[in-house]
Amino acid sequence: MSYYDYIIIGSGIAGLYIALLAIERGSVLILTKGSIDDCNTKYAQGGIAAPIGKGDSPESHFEDTMAAGGGLCDAEAVRILVNEAAECITDLIGLGVPFDTLNGEITLTREAAHSVPRVIHAGGDATGEHIEVTLSQQVRSSPIEVLEHCLATEILVENDKVKGVKALDCRAGSMEEYSCRFLILATGGVGRLFKYTTNSDVVTGDGIALAFEAGAEICDMEFFQFHPTVLRLPGVAPFLITEAVRGEGGILRNVEGYRFMPDYVAEAELAPRDIVARSIVYEMKKTHSDRVFLDVTHLPPRLITTRFPHIYRFCREHGLDIAEGLIPVAPAAHYLMGGVSVNECGETNISGLFAAGETACTRVHGANRLASNSLLESVVFGKRVVERTEMIQKLTVTASVPQQSRRCPSEEELQARRRGSEEPYFLPEREMLPSVPAPNLPELQSLMWDKVGIIRSGESLSEAASILSSWQRFLLQPIDRPSSELNDLVLCGRIMTEAALLREESRGAHFRTDFPHTLPEWQRHIVFRKDHGAE
Ligand code: FAD
Ligand code: SIN
Repeated sequence: MSYYDYIIIGSGIAGLYIALLAIERGSVLILTKGSIDDCNTKYAQGGIAAPIGKGDSPESHFEDTMAAGGGLCDAEAVRILVNEAAECITDLIGLGVPFDTLNGEITLTREAAHSVPRVIHAGGDATGEHIEVTLSQQVRSSPIEVLEHCLATEILVENDKVKGVKALDCRAGSMEEYSCRFLILATGGVGRLFKYTTNSDVVTGDGIALAFEAGAEICDMEFFQFHPTVLRLPGVAPFLITEAVRGEGGILRNVEGYRFMPDYVAEAELAPRDIVARSIVYEMKKTHSDRVFLDVTHLPPRLITTRFPHIYRFCREHGLDIAEGLIPVAPAAHYLMGGVSVNECGETNISGLFAAGETACTRVHGANRLASNSLLESVVFGKRVVERTEMIQKLTVTASVPQQSRRCPSEEELQARRRGSEEPYFLPEREMLPSVPAPNLPELQSLMWDKVGIIRSGESLSEAASILSSWQRFLLQPIDRPSSELNDLVLCGRIMTEAALLREESRGAHFRTDFPHTLPEWQRHIVFRKDHGAE
């Protein structure tokens, strides 16, 4: 069995950035289930939030992040995010990411719920593509080993310590084991759970399912963000129309041409995402339509073509000139706030197992993520993962407490703040439904969209929980990537649904018609862990 100091699963921003830092400290293997650039990162449009502009400050970024998070952001984690942002942006520039500049200064755009323009971008609206291509080129010209088309299927744990990972070589069809000192999950979110989604088809919750099966704690799964403005054109796959379009002055109109957002909320189009997405759903219902329109026809055409060249081109290719016509949009699944529960150095409750990027739940986003904080979270907490592993290495070698790293807290502090302070829930036993068909991906995606989507209720969630639980019993031992992904999605869907059922309130992205208010007794996190005793 091959041994590496670090095995990283996933090759989006989190996996690649961590690999580039880790290779300075030991041997690194990246396993990724598609080709290296198959990931969500590549599709990021708006950019990376960082409080680096004149008139901005980490304090202001902190306030905006906390306000969007609906009372569930971890203040300590958010402080880290905003204070360490500038340094990570400098790292990315050093690695060659070509952020847009004007007269030598980085240009900043505004997105919803940010009080100032603070979002750095590249290629106008092609930020993710520039990041992914730059980082993957750096990885390719380094000693990092990359195995593409290699699907991680099981985390190997012995005596509560990570030993390695089992993976399927999707091309050869063979199963391999790799061992390591540190295993880092950077497998992204779970956006393919839903019928309408902005997410790449590799984003199927694998890391979360694997971590759960291995005994790791999974947190905040009920908080899933739906992006308000995703292109809704017949026969065209959902395509994101970045929030930055509204930041630059885009207006939402219903099918009758009426600007409706000011009727719902004072910040109108720039209200937090959950509010805009729900307002659009209400407006679509009111007007008996499956879409609303985003209007940029009042903006200078040059601004549209230079700031949003990618969107402009994509729409043009599908017969729509957005400088002249309205853009049909509707909400779609976008981002998971929850995930594998980690402390501020990316550690899970299993020794040697780390998580970073969208897979991880650092608790910076709380119940609702502020736009463009995700790429930032991936790099800020990714860097901390590597620093923590370095500290652990030194601890082992010198058998004495090394000088404390600037970023990583001491062992005692980490113990005190180690995740696992909440009493975890186990998935409840549910009665097997007599006549449920065997699960398949489209049915799962429709079920989640209809019953566990933007607007939920106890009734819809109970129905979904029963079906998902019955489906879990139908699932077969996976034999290939699709069957493995389906199993992982069903498990993630189940955890999400059970968490949403438990949370009898509405907060951030989680909205229930039977509990429409935010309740102080629910200002806490819901954590799930596998009940190994029940096996
Ligand atoms: P990903 O980039 O999704 O990468 C996950 C990797 O894990 C992939 O390489 C995948 O193949 C691999 N993988 C998964 N499972 C396995 C397995 N079992 N075995 C092996 N490999 C596996 N955020 C922002 O901050 N700003 C934005 O402007 C922005 N725009 C967005 C636009 C779109 C359309 C989307 C979908 C998201 C956007 N986001 C944005 C969110 C952000 O892009 C993601 O949260 C972020 O890129 C996640 O990075 P990641 O490295 O965690 O995961
Ligand atoms: C967008 O560009 O609207 C997406 C930004 C994000 O998801 O953070």
